[in-house]
Amino acid sequence: MSTSVLRGEGLTMRFGGLVAIDSVDFSLRPGEILGIIGPNGAGKSTLFNVISGLYRASAGKVFLGERLLNGQAAHNVTRFGIARTFQSSRLFSDLSVLDNVIIGMHTRLRSGVLDALLRPSRARAELLMAAGHASELLAAVSTGLHAQRHRPACELAQADRRRLEIARALASDPKVLMLDEPSSGMDDRDTDALMNDIRAISAQRPDLSVMIIEHDMRLVAELPHRVMVIDYGRKIADGQFADIRSMPRVQEAYLGRRASNA
Ligand SMILES: Nc1ncnc2c1ncn2[C@@H]1O[C@H](COP(=O)(O)OP(=O)(O)OP(=O)(O)O)[C@@H](O)[C@H]1O
Ligand SMILES: [Mg+2]
Repeated sequence: MSTSVLRGEGLTMRFGGLVAIDSVDFSLRPGEILGIIGPNGAGKSTLFNVISGLYRASAGKVFLGERLLNGQAAHNVTRFGIARTFQSSRLFSDLSVLDNVIIGMHTRLRSGVLDALLRPSRARAELLMAAGHASELLAAVSTGLHAQRHRPACELAQADRRRLEIARALASDPKVLMLDEPSSGMDDRDTDALMNDIRAISAQRPDLSVMIIEHDMRLVAELPHRVMVIDYGRKIADGQFADIRSMPRVQEAYLGRRASNA
C-alpha cells in the first residue's frame, strides 16, 4: 500500500520542442504541506496544470491514492479530490463572495438544470443547504471574509480575493489543495496572515495535503514541511528548506539567478 495521497512518476509535459516538465517524480503525504519553488518559467504552474487535468501529460503518470489520473478531465480530477487556485485571479467578480464559494461546490451538488426545471423545490432546498455550508466554510477560513459574504467579489481587497479563491477551492472538499503563488501581490503583513490562514485550515483538516507554489522566501522558509525545487522542468532538490537552501544547485538555479534578475 502506498502512503502517498498524490504521486507523480516521470511526469513530462512538452510544448512543441520545449520540455516544460521533464521526468518529474514526486509524492505528497496525507496532511503534508509541500512547497514548490523555482525560477520564473521553471515549470511549476505547468506541473499543477498537468496534475489538475488541464493539460494532458506527454509522458509519465499521476496517481491520486491508487487512482490513475492521466486522461481524466479537469472536472473529474476535482471530483476525485484535487482542488486548486490559479496564479491569476479567476473569481466571478460580479457575483457575491458567498456565490463564488457555492460555485466551488458544484462537483458536490446533485441537482442539475433539469432538476431545477422539473423538481424546483428539491433543487432550491439543495441550494439553501449549499449556501449554509458555504457560509460556515467562509467563517472557518476567515471571519473578515465571512463578514463580507454578500459583497461582490470585485469589491474585495487583494488579500481577501486570494482568501476567497482558497475558500472556493476548499468548497469541493478536496484531499489535495494546490495553491499557485497565493501571496503574489501581498505585503508582508498580508503574507503573514495568509500563512496563519493556511496553518489554521491545515489544523482543522489534518488529512488535507497542500501543495504551494511560492516565490516569497519567508513563506517558503516557514510554512511548508518540505520543499521541492524545479529548474528547467526538472526536480533538482527535495527536502527540508533548511537543508536544501544551501545546496549549490539550488543556489545557482534559484536564489542566484533570481537575485541577479531582481
Ligand atoms: N500552454 C503553453 N504553451 C506553450 N508553452 C507553455 C504553455 N504553458 C507554459 N509554457 C511554457 O512552459 C514553461 C514553464 O512555464 P510555467 O508557467 O509552468 O512556469 P512557472 O514555473 O510557473 O513560472 P512563473 O514563476 O513565472 O509562474 C515556460 O517556458 C512557458 O513559457
Ligand atoms: Mg507559474
